[in-house]
Amino acid sequence: MTATIIDGKAFAGRVRDRVGAHVARLKEEHGITPGLAVVLVGDDPASDVYVRSKGKMTKAVGMLSLEYRLKADVAQDEVLRLVGDLNANPEVHGILVQLPLPRHMEESRILAAIDPAKDVDGFHISNVGLLSTGQRAMVPCTPLGCLMMLRDHHGDLTGMDAVVIGRSNIVGKPMAQLLLGESCTVTIAHSRTRNLPEVVRRADIVVAAVGRPKMVTGDWIKPGATVIDVGINRTDNGLVGDVDFDSASQVAGAITPVPGGVGPMTIACLLANTVTACCRANGLAEPDGLTV
Ligand code: GUN
Repeated sequence: MTATIIDGKAFAGRVRDRVGAHVARLKEEHGITPGLAVVLVGDDPASDVYVRSKGKMTKAVGMLSLEYRLKADVAQDEVLRLVGDLNANPEVHGILVQLPLPRHMEESRILAAIDPAKDVDGFHISNVGLLSTGQRAMVPCTPLGCLMMLRDHHGDLTGMDAVVIGRSNIVGKPMAQLLLGESCTVTIAHSRTRNLPEVVRRADIVVAAVGRPKMVTGDWIKPGATVIDVGINRTDNGLVGDVDFDSASQVAGAITPVPGGVGPMTIACLLANTVTACCRANGLAEPDGLTV
């Protein structure tokens, strides 16, 4: 068997087109331009690449892009002050503080300072609670992108066995909540799970988000399963996922590649979340299909 490749790059392009169309409508009909503010503290090269890319895409869909770059040794209070200013700025509908933050900062305090209504990352504890209780939340971008691809591929996910490998607050836990919301039977596995290959072999849907290059091999996969690879691991041989694509694609029914799978969906969903936040802030209808 050779798996269907789920083309995240093309899918992300369609999501951005829908976001762009909605932005144009908001401008034309309501005179509102959705705005996204991104805060980068320090000069981590990978974060710098992400932030640049976010700014470029934000402008490309017609939104206002604000970028704040602070030195690595900036005082935490200064970051908190900036977040407070952005919370109060009516031109800003979405705020993203790029992680990881320098070690002297308390990530939880900074994330807690973001107005939950502008929390387009979905990391604020209020949004985490809303998502886990099945209420309308801002949903973290990477799991949202994974869910969009799964829904697009399968339609209804009811009753499917899903195994999420990884228990991070950014991907694993919210992904599990989203899949529960789709009425999947969900297992959260992780690096300490006993008999991990056996657990994964039960799954109709595998979401790999552990950050270990090519850890999930073809013999872990149930024939015909759908495999979503969230891993972005830089190796001497370039970017690789958490899944060994060559062996897994011989067994899976469908699989996302790295690069070109989940990665492009994350930024597309950030733009989608910003439009959603803008619509909610203004009491306007939200675009269809861009959130859960
Ligand atoms: N760093 C890596 N991924 C993310 C993300 O999704 N959001 C933020 N804020 N920082 C990140």
